[in-house]
Amino acid sequence: MTSNPYHEAVEDSVRALRWSDEGLLVLDQRRLPDTCDYHCHSTATGVAEAIATMQVRGAPAIGIAAAYGVVLAARARFAQSADDWKQAIARDLEVLAASRPTAVNLFWALDQMRSVIAATVPGTSPVPGLLARAEAIHAEDVAANRAMGELGADLIGEAAGVLTHCNTGSLATGGYGTALGVIRSLCRRARRDVYATETRPWSQGARLTAWELSQDRIPATLIADSAAGLLMRRQGVQWVIVGADRIAANGDTANKIGTYSLAVLARQHGVKFMVVAPTSTVDRNCRSGKDIVIEERDPREFLPPCFIGSNSTISAWNPVFDVTPAALIDVIVTERGAVRNPANSGMQAVL
Ligand code: MRU
Repeated sequence: MTSNPYHEAVEDSVRALRWSDEGLLVLDQRRLPDTCDYHCHSTATGVAEAIATMQVRGAPAIGIAAAYGVVLAARARFAQSADDWKQAIARDLEVLAASRPTAVNLFWALDQMRSVIAATVPGTSPVPGLLARAEAIHAEDVAANRAMGELGADLIGEAAGVLTHCNTGSLATGGYGTALGVIRSLCRRARRDVYATETRPWSQGARLTAWELSQDRIPATLIADSAAGLLMRRQGVQWVIVGADRIAANGDTANKIGTYSLAVLARQHGVKFMVVAPTSTVDRNCRSGKDIVIEERDPREFLPPCFIGSNSTISAWNPVFDVTPAALIDVIVTERGAVRNPANSGMQAVL
């Protein structure tokens, strides 16, 4: 009998996205963990709406969903006109691009699909080529996550306690996860104390990371975001491991709101700080974190209903990402290797 419950689990069975002939099946993450429902989206507009409303979220998963959205757009546009579909599909790509602003994987994936569109011979169906590219983006993301999981776990070694933020697992990616992939790999090697922040205001930690880890039978402890300082002061964790929505060329990293606070706390307490993200999250056109657009969502997502309305004197500010300066990051793990102390050299080595 093993003392590591992870060994008894079915590893990484959760999938946020599944392709079918009818369209893209999207696991509605707004309803997890109470309800596990897939919705079938058969149009690009439907996929854009699924991204904007956070049925699917997490930078790599958003990019993959958008790639499948382009396949759906091509199917419809080519059926309408085998001659003019390239002009018509440009509008669908704009709609997909407008679904969320911060995760660069969305724009990266759309660029990949644009190249296939440009290379499609006039009069021939673009669908097989686009579907092959979307499936490759999906599969390559899982492979990258597995590689990063092992590399991150090697770097962390024997550390007994780790803290993660938001949800960066299979729900946020093609599968396995970025930061949560490292935690999967760590826990396969030996039992660890895994802590997950609740991740206010949308509770990706309390709802999604907790659910995903429970599916894999990885024991974990939830904390309120505001408990992280005390946890570090009591030496409960040696590493903070997070994902990324966009990494600037100098290593500054945008991720879920609260990441920056964790990095400041980590530095204060001598806790190491690791970012895990595929190179599709690195934006070579973005020089520093100052150039990253921070999404601000509807304040009603967390404003108590009694304060909503024209008579209310209470408003809310709802930025959903922040930027952690490279100087607060010890290592950025990508599928092409790890960048230690990114403030020294930026991301050049993996670009
Ligand atoms: O607003 P979300 O839930 O899309 O934000 C997700 C995050 O910030 C994740 O940490 C990030 O996308 C990395 S996921 C592998």
